[in-house]
Amino acid sequence: MLDINKMPNTPFYYYDLALLERTLDALQQAIRPEDPFCVHYAFKSCYNADVTRTICARGLGADCVSEGEISRLLELGFPASKLVFAGVGKTDAAIDLGLKAGIGAFNVENLQELEVISQRAVAMGKTARVALRINPNVDAHTHEKITTGLPENKFGIALEDTLSGIARANELPGVEFIGLHFHIGSQVLDAELFAPLCDVINDLQDKIEAAGYSLSYINVGGGLGIDYQNPVGNPIPDFESYFAVFRRGLKLREGQQVHFELGRSITGQCGTLYTKVLFVKEGKQKRFVILDAGFTDLVRVAMYGAYHHIENCSARPSDPLMTYDVAGPICESSDVFAVDRQLPQTKRGDIFAIRSAGAYGHVMASTYNYRPLPAEYSGHGEFQLD
Ligand code: LLP
Repeated sequence: MLDINKMPNTPFYYYDLALLERTLDALQQAIRPEDPFCVHYAFKSCYNADVTRTICARGLGADCVSEGEISRLLELGFPASKLVFAGVGKTDAAIDLGLKAGIGAFNVENLQELEVISQRAVAMGKTARVALRINPNVDAHTHEKITTGLPENKFGIALEDTLSGIARANELPGVEFIGLHFHIGSQVLDAELFAPLCDVINDLQDKIEAAGYSLSYINVGGGLGIDYQNPVGNPIPDFESYFAVFRRGLKLREGQQVHFELGRSITGQCGTLYTKVLFVKEGKQKRFVILDAGFTDLVRVAMYGAYHHIENCSARPSDPLMTYDVAGPICESSDVFAVDRQLPQTKRGDIFAIRSAGAYGHVMASTYNYRPLPAEYSGHGEFQLD
């Protein structure tokens, strides 16, 4: 926890656990008692221990993608049975750890992986609960770099190979086939875009049943987006509409459970990157604010052209608005957080808040340019500057 009276060295991340709690309230209230829905936290979005423990305390499971994530989640208190393991390239060591711990499900991305899990499970005298990750050919209409459900993406088994995959899973020793996994992409703002995924799942279910198999587990992945434009006014995602699409769209059979793997919608808005203005530079064509945070601390803008809301926390209401390019200190032209952004007149030493940095922020930080990783703090409520 942060000593709120002392301004830490910048740049640093601050997580508002009170907002996280409100987000979790909204998430859990959007699920009705009769819904057979089970939410897993996509751990890859934020590794902060206070954040993750808060989520764990709510009884959510977790979605993990590597050996490191599995061991860390176990350490943080998640029961192994509530872990689901996706990942397009699972190492042997990661598979062994999942088997040893007895995780809830392996979401299998290709048929060779299925054979390897079977062999390793048999060698260890274990049975792996496996789901096949199917590439549903559903467009998430999001950024191309975070689209996963199209045939040109590397993820999952082709739709038309579903039945042969299930047949193989049922033949193999050491594996118990439980169901299917899907994930169409991330930062999906219109919940209706998940409706075509429900249609694909319904069609597949009919075919799977006709072939004599059944599913107990249907994992629809994650992807619900957040409001990057207006994080302060609209901090809590529309979980109601999201779950309503699946409640309405999926034709579930008796005893089936629907699993969700939400990351960004849970952790995105509770995290802010605080950074100091090193210089205000009057260029020949542009006016630049140079921050002490760069893409090494938050890569989303440089990598995806993402928008992040930026506030000058040191500004007074009377300061006039001016137009700035907001850049970091890294030796690359792509190290820019905003172009032609209207901000209150800024001076050296001002503190900026880069909002909506809780998901895919600190976890993607690097030490390029020999920079240290940014510190992380948390507290209940907004971070208060003196
Ligand atoms: N399940 C699977 C199989 C995934 O690949 C992902 C995210 C999730 C769940 C969680 O998705 P979410 O609910 O957070 O949208 N670094 C990018 C996002 C990459 C998402 C990767 N997979 C960004 O900063 O936008």
